[in-house]
Parts: sequence; structure tokens; C-alpha cells
Amino acid sequence: MSSYLEIARQIAQEAGALLMRYYHRRVGFELKGEFDLVTEADHASEALILERLRSHFPTHGIVAEEGGAVAGRTEFCWYVDPLDGTTNFAHGFPAFAVSLALEREGRLISGVIYDPLHQELFEAERGAGACLNGRRIRVSGVQRITDSLAATGFPSRKRHQNINIHFYYQVAMLSHGVRRAGSAALDLAYVGAGRLDAFWEFGLNPWDMAAGVLIVEEAGGRVSDMLGGPASIHGPHLLADNGLVHEPMLGLFREVFAGSFPTPLPEIQPV
Ligand code: 2AM
Ligand code: CA
Repeated sequence: MSSYLEIARQIAQEAGALLMRYYHRRVGFELKGEFDLVTEADHASEALILERLRSHFPTHGIVAEEGGAVAGRTEFCWYVDPLDGTTNFAHGFPAFAVSLALEREGRLISGVIYDPLHQELFEAERGAGACLNGRRIRVSGVQRITDSLAATGFPSRKRHQNINIHFYYQVAMLSHGVRRAGSAALDLAYVGAGRLDAFWEFGLNPWDMAAGVLIVEEAGGRVSDMLGGPASIHGPHLLADNGLVHEPMLGLFREVFAGSFPTPLPEIQPV
């Protein structure tokens, strides 16, 4: 294991412990944009993470959700989500995490997602596999959408432009169900751990996806965009799954993108 991963793990756990102190106090929130929430805890967690990263790695770039970016091209770049699942956190709904990932020359090399409520630490290093609390994890062996449990999400910004409800409905009709828990980082970690078979979403930010993408890949899964193109944490949409349901999911998505819906929405009848 590299020292990068070791330090990322320590920082994520420290930030997670800080989040828990705010969580128990039920802090208030502010609006950042029309629907996007931010809490005191997001800012405090980000300040802690940036301070630690800068002291360990003064030459590394940092891209962080609450604006703590260090501009310029650098060999190493960290993607920091100090609190993924802010809306859940602000309401006391127990699904949130800290996500840290390191890219070297544009390639993800280390990723950590820490869920402080359940004390679950998911981590991956390029070429070395993925772990949950130190034990190796692998994606599920589910082969068909009809046997799968999937997850997705709906980012709060520009929600009226989000077409995901069409995809949500079609996958929900075919699969065992689609969960929508509000933390993309945890959804991706759960795909890596085989708790979910597939996750997709539109409009995520690089810090929501970076650690999770590496965890899914290192757990033996497959990640691409929703059209089957190369996975990119800078792309407009993402599909991450156990690899076995990847082609069937892409086939279904192709139909939905083309406006052909395998299961039509039911008419609303008078009740
Ligand atoms: P956050 O809690 O860190 O903001 C839910 O679908 C996922 O989308 C969460 O991971 C959430 O992360 C993220 N999210 C929330 N608002 C968003 C926005 N305006 N743009 C992109 N992603 C967003
Ligand atoms: Ca996030």
C-alpha cells in the first residue's frame, strides 16, 4: 500500500469524526444556489482535509467541492468531497461520506470513501484491489438486470432539466429495485462491495465520482459513460456496475436515449 493511500485514509477518518460531531448536534444549512445545501460541517471538513493535504503534499493540486481548489497543472491532483450526501446530513438521514481520490497525470491511482456513521472505510489503489475495513471486496456475480439491485441519484441543481426519471422508471420496472439514497460516493462504494449491482447518474462532479470509480474498477467492476464510451470523472453521465450487467444496462439506456421506452408509464386513472 502506498503512503498516499495511508495518509488519505487517516485524513478521511479524521474528517469523518469531525462530521459526526456536527451530525449529533443537527447543524443548520444554507442554500448554495436554488436547492443545493451546504452546512457548517461541509466547510469545517473541507478546511481540515485541505490543511492536512497541503501539509503532507505541498506540491499537489487539489479540487474540492466547496471551492478550495489549487489552480495550475500539477503531476498529482486530489479530488475532495468533504461531505457527500449533504442534503441527507442536514436532515439527519443516515447516508453520507467523505471521499478523497488522487490522480497522477490524469490517471486515478488511489481512492478512499469513509462512512463515519457505519465506520466503513472503502479504499482502492490502482492495480492492488479494493478493500472494506481492510478486507478485499469484489463486485457481485449477478448476471441479469432482472436479478439486480441498482441505484441512481438526482443532483439538485437544474433538476427540471434532468432526464433521469425516464431511466429510473425503466430500470425500476425490470430490476429488483432502484435505490436513491443521495450519496453517489456511497453508491459507488456499494457497487464495489457487491451490495449493489449497478449505479448510474447524470451531472455528477469529479469529486463525487473519483474515489468510487477506482473502487469499482479495482473490485472487478466496469465503469463507462451511459453510452458505453470511456469512463471520465469529467463526463456528463456515468454507469458503474459489476461488469456482467454492463452490456444489458447499456442496451436499455440506448433505447431510452432514443425515446423508446420498453415499459410505458401507466395512465393515471380516476380514483
Ligand atoms: P453532495 O451531497 O456532495 O452535494 C446525489 O444524487 C448526488 O449528487 C450526491 O452525491 C450529491 O453530492 C450530488 N449533488 C448534489 N447536488 C449536486 C449538484 N448541484 N451538482 C452535481 N452533483 C450534486
Ligand atoms: Ca458530493
